[in-house]
Amino acid sequence: MYVAPSILSADFGRLSDEIKAVCDAGADLIHVDVMDGHFVPNLTIGPLVVNAVKKVATVPLDIHLMVDNIPFFVDLFLKLQPKFLSFHIENDPHPMRIIETIRNSGVHPAIVLNPHTPVSSLKHIISEVDMVLLMSVNPGFGGQKFMPLVYEKIRELRELIDQKGAKCMIEVDGGVNGLNVAALDEAGADIVVAGNFVFSSNDYKVAIQSLKLEN
Ligand code: DX5
Ligand code: ZN
Repeated sequence: MYVAPSILSADFGRLSDEIKAVCDAGADLIHVDVMDGHFVPNLTIGPLVVNAVKKVATVPLDIHLMVDNIPFFVDLFLKLQPKFLSFHIENDPHPMRIIETIRNSGVHPAIVLNPHTPVSSLKHIISEVDMVLLMSVNPGFGGQKFMPLVYEKIRELRELIDQKGAKCMIEVDGGVNGLNVAALDEAGADIVVAGNFVFSSNDYKVAIQSLKLEN
């Protein structure tokens, strides 16, 4: 399992130390939640701070956009060249265009589904993206309760990927912890995002290793 700590739960007063610590502790990606106060009822960080995060991180960025004006934010964050740039399918009438823009900039395009958005909405787009992010909480805040409905969605998505012969990773975001990660792995997830579980632990290395399921 690949692990992407979400810095939403980090101590922002010591952000660079926090980033260094999770990178040293075995993070595979740094998950960055960009919220605009419109698409979700919370407001986080812009490119200035994310650029500072990038300078400190020794692993690539995984930027998750939770915003209304997707093309505007895509342009802003493509300049930072993350590994993945993901946006919500609920919120743009022309996702194919956005995907093309992202890919043409040399970044891996990814699509996000809210908990109640069906996997079938990806039927005609799955071959175009490199990752699908399945939300296991309603987006907006860290530390929320995991929604088990995501297990079925992972299985459906895995089936769709196989059926289409697509090369697409499955990421799960929200309420992931040491107790549900094995079942997420079994259902077919490739990457887990974890905010609260990692940053509220006493030992980031132990927390991240437990999510990697290596022991
Ligand atoms: C929620 C964000 C998540 C969040 C996860 O809107 O997309 O990335 O930080 O935090 P935890 O792991 O605490 O649920
Ligand atoms: Zn996220």
